[in-house]
Amino acid sequence: MPTDTPVFTPTAIIGSELNRIDGPLKTTGAAQYAADFHFPGMVHGVPVTSTVAAGTIRSIDAAKAEKMPGVLAVLHHDNLYAGATPPLFRMAPGGHGGRTSEARPPLEDTTIRYWGQYVALVLAETYEQALAAAEAVQVAYDPAPFSVSTKLDDAQTAELPLHTESKRGDVEAAFASAPVKVDQTYTTPAETHNPMEMHATVAVWNAPRFTLYETSQGVVNHQHVMAETLGVPRENIQIITRFLGSGFGGKLFPWPHSALAAAAARQLNRPVKLSVNRKQMFQNVGHRPRTQQHMKLAATLDGKLVSLHQDYRNHTNFGDDIRENCGEATPFLYSTPNLLVTSALVRRNVGTPTPMRGPGAVPGLFALESAMDELAVALKMDPVALRLKNDTLTDESQNKPFSSRHYKECLEVGAEKFGWAKRQAAIGSMRKPGDDEVILGWGMAGASWGAFRGACQASVALLNDGTARVSCGTQDVGTGTYTVFAQVVSDRTGIPVERIRVVLGDSSLVPGPTSGGSTATATVLPAIADATDNATKTAIATAASTPGSAFHGKPADSLAFTEGRIHVKTQPAATGVPFEEILKQAQVQAANGEGNSAGIGSDPKARNFSTHSFGAQFVEVEWDPGIARLRVSRVVSVIDGGRIINAKTAANQILGAVVMGVGMGLLEETLYMPQTGQPLNSNFADYMVATNPDSPRIDVHFLDYPDPILGEYGARGIGEIGLAGVAPAIASAVYHATGIRVRNLPIRIEDLLSASLTA
Ligand code: MOS
Repeated sequence: MPTDTPVFTPTAIIGSELNRIDGPLKTTGAAQYAADFHFPGMVHGVPVTSTVAAGTIRSIDAAKAEKMPGVLAVLHHDNLYAGATPPLFRMAPGGHGGRTSEARPPLEDTTIRYWGQYVALVLAETYEQALAAAEAVQVAYDPAPFSVSTKLDDAQTAELPLHTESKRGDVEAAFASAPVKVDQTYTTPAETHNPMEMHATVAVWNAPRFTLYETSQGVVNHQHVMAETLGVPRENIQIITRFLGSGFGGKLFPWPHSALAAAAARQLNRPVKLSVNRKQMFQNVGHRPRTQQHMKLAATLDGKLVSLHQDYRNHTNFGDDIRENCGEATPFLYSTPNLLVTSALVRRNVGTPTPMRGPGAVPGLFALESAMDELAVALKMDPVALRLKNDTLTDESQNKPFSSRHYKECLEVGAEKFGWAKRQAAIGSMRKPGDDEVILGWGMAGASWGAFRGACQASVALLNDGTARVSCGTQDVGTGTYTVFAQVVSDRTGIPVERIRVVLGDSSLVPGPTSGGSTATATVLPAIADATDNATKTAIATAASTPGSAFHGKPADSLAFTEGRIHVKTQPAATGVPFEEILKQAQVQAANGEGNSAGIGSDPKARNFSTHSFGAQFVEVEWDPGIARLRVSRVVSVIDGGRIINAKTAANQILGAVVMGVGMGLLEETLYMPQTGQPLNSNFADYMVATNPDSPRIDVHFLDYPDPILGEYGARGIGEIGLAGVAPAIASAVYHATGIRVRNLPIRIEDLLSASLTA
């Protein structure tokens, strides 16, 4: 059954280009981020980090540091765990009520697994005193052999067995007998999350309660993990994250600095601030792991895929088994009777990898979509036509229809908006209008990302001053969550957004979702809608039961709540009474409503469908062979992401993701020094992210089909899909301009010099 029929028509506030309601707070500096919190008597913590990549700590001599001015304590393995009652950390892998980033508790043992691992924490009256003392702590190591090798197919692979992720048919036989084949290996580098706001914890201990000011993409999960880690009941921990300066996945789950700061606050009985600096961002708080993907594709002469085989490795560290899930999109994006996705992990002496925007799918699609482009070249077929030929409305890995898939339309609309029909297929054959020295390359790629909705609660209060308050224990990572909350309340009550206060970012509110996996919007909408409807019901019941009210004694079901007024259902809203008047008359402060929504996992209807978002990226590069200069000049991004709730914040997500994609394609790579294991480019001068001068002209287009399986509003979530497909589209455009196929990201000028010399 096609499920694209809209089941619900919201008011015009839904889908509008409403400005972020938290924008003025951010742009005026009034928004308080984690490290902005200060408390009387606050102590500063600075970690001491390992200067070897593997081995054991032989000894820690903190005597000199402890005598330095302002120093209050130096915590390390020997004194932190010795005789502590109750134990300071009870972090046990698998033992959590929530999910943590690093399975091992901080300073747990004397084993060093990566360069930069925390080995001690210095606490002092000022940050400068703590920093100076941290440098004075003497740590002696017994170093051990280590590896940060970028080759992921060496002997160590065997340590972690091959895992089959998806399988149908017989890829070996189909590949062997097919007339057209691609057999190539693609790599993507370790990439480091670099949100503007770095990680930080301000921990306040007020026995028996902790308050932790955090920059967290999941305050409720953070609360659960910290309760377990610190050995206190959940109700004695409050996590506050009012604003985030982004996260990109790096702030999904708690990192050890949070537990360290909290333990120190309890030990010293003073507030503790611990800020992770930019250098430590490359060591201690996750990264997208390096991947190496072997792709074997085979097709008939007319371009029908007959076999798709992806075998990938990603690096993980020595404390965790983190699988990057590069086969996220492979099993269902195209129709093929024979498919196999296998994977294995390779241990390296690096910090724990963690999800980064579009984890799995983004590096996975670099390989899949690059290989599809190579297949199109081998077939002498247009790359858009090849995708159209292999489109499907069935998820063949699950034998289920998609809830709402418009990949074909993404390709067609993208081609139309980009002007793809004018593409000349011959390599290096297109010139920049008005500049014959510059070669244009045009490339494209498909995109996909999963769609999911979790369980959620929300609270709404309609107040007797004519305002509304809506709250939930989720947070706004910067994507527009605050604004979406206000839009839904306004949609269902007619109260203008200026009169709606949104309260988020506090684990003591009713539980809401982690801002991850592009699921927060779809997850919160039904709960907010339910809470709002329950609040308006309360207001109507109040109107019906309050003596003297215009509606006293009327049956509640004959009344309605529209445009902020309670009125007789059969009469226009203008004939009604503003809800605040009714509440004042009844002498109550608020009409309250609680909302509750279940996740998609417990929705029997959802089980019959495969739920994903889709997209197509079209890229133009300018290649100037005379000076070997490559620029991404133009991108058209077409996204099938369900109903768009806010056209401005949604477009912002795609614009930002495309810029991040330029970084992935041309700039970003975390380099680990082979001699020491140290992240070499752990600063903004040497680790390049795309900025304004790197940004192309970007045209974002949403198809805007509601996906009813995701809920009444039909929103899917668009935080991650915009990054999917950008890097392979760039690589394909570079091939079209230069004839050089770059299979190892990022694409460097060095890769293209031979095209420069021969041009
Ligand atoms: Mo996203 S990597 O789930 O923040």
